[in-house]
Amino acid sequence: MEKRNIPLYDLKLSPGTRKRVNAVLSSGWLSTGPLARELEKQVAKRAHVRYAAAVSSATAGLQMTLEAIGARKGSEVITSPFTFCATAEAILRSEAIPVFADIDPATLNIDPDEVERKITSNTLCVMPVDIAGHPANYKSLGAICRKRRLPVIADASHALGATWRGKTVAQLADAAIHSFQATKNVTSAEGGIVASRHKQLVERVQLLSRHAMTANAFQRKKANKWEYDVVGLGFKGNLSDLHAAVGLGELTVFDKNQAKRARIAARYMKGLSGLEDHLELPPENNAYHHAWHLFIIRLHLSHLKISRDRFIKLMAGEGVQCGVHYKPLFEMSYYRQLGFLPQYFPNAAYAGQRVISLPMYPQLSMSDVDYVCAAVRRLVEKHVR
Ligand SMILES: Cc1ncc(COP(=O)(O)O)c(C=O)c1O
Repeated sequence: MEKRNIPLYDLKLSPGTRKRVNAVLSSGWLSTGPLARELEKQVAKRAHVRYAAAVSSATAGLQMTLEAIGARKGSEVITSPFTFCATAEAILRSEAIPVFADIDPATLNIDPDEVERKITSNTLCVMPVDIAGHPANYKSLGAICRKRRLPVIADASHALGATWRGKTVAQLADAAIHSFQATKNVTSAEGGIVASRHKQLVERVQLLSRHAMTANAFQRKKANKWEYDVVGLGFKGNLSDLHAAVGLGELTVFDKNQAKRARIAARYMKGLSGLEDHLELPPENNAYHHAWHLFIIRLHLSHLKISRDRFIKLMAGEGVQCGVHYKPLFEMSYYRQLGFLPQYFPNAAYAGQRVISLPMYPQLSMSDVDYVCAAVRRLVEKHVR
């Protein structure tokens, strides 16, 4: 087969997105206004909850949600160390303490038994992360947290469109924070949504996102009133209508794109079958509807003569760019220095050495997927121990 160049990630905006962006550019209003409100409505509808707040990023959404539920110095937030740094950063920025609980090696999501062991009288909430778009085990987490009246605040950055037994993450948790950053399944360039059934929580996030001002600039313009009060210490965390226009345009192709991601995942599963002695594929479970933000394989390192990093280098030589989601946070110098060490989290530590993300985005053709599978197969067969 002729050599190809397949990036880890690519994006083609829908034609409707350009039209919406051009319209907002000519509208005379670029900041938070009717389009941000429309995006909130549409995402809330998709998430099957009544309320949603459009925010400038999932990171800001996580931090403002923690603030909204009362995070303060000394509050403990139980989360996964197998995540992007934004999860723990939001916790630390709200002056709370991240308490890492190890992951379930099958799903790479936080292990509810570990969560239960880490609960103390200072626990403020549990923050699972739906890695790759596979919902965390909300059934067990919900049972553990309900008993103690602890909210479950989901870092659902990867998981818009994911369900467990037909329920969305926003329905399963007390709040789901979705990312609309450029590489996510749906993007507004940068942005995020806090979706929840709790009206007060969402209204509090909206208030915080506009410096805790009683009215934002658009509301004042519409009401032809300059007055406002500042009722707390807020954030600058609002989403502009320009960003919302991109998000609304991209939402029109979300279902089509999600269906394509599912077809790509199925093609990978088929194309990599038979290699189970050398690598592990994502778990399959009919109760879950995976959002397929990422397609993560795991090498069986003891059955191969090469490391994960070498494998990725050789894949690049084949023209296929791969990624790592994630190098666990306790491997990052900042978190090491805070005292988080790999030996406390053996499952996350092992996963961190062997995960590889293969290209996953709707623009991939099935023949690109076959090309990636053939490259993986060649490398595995060449380097088998
Ligand atoms: C698991 C996870 N949490 C949080 C974020 C932060 O999202 P944002 O860039 O929208 O702040 C990301 C983004 O990559 C992520 O992957």
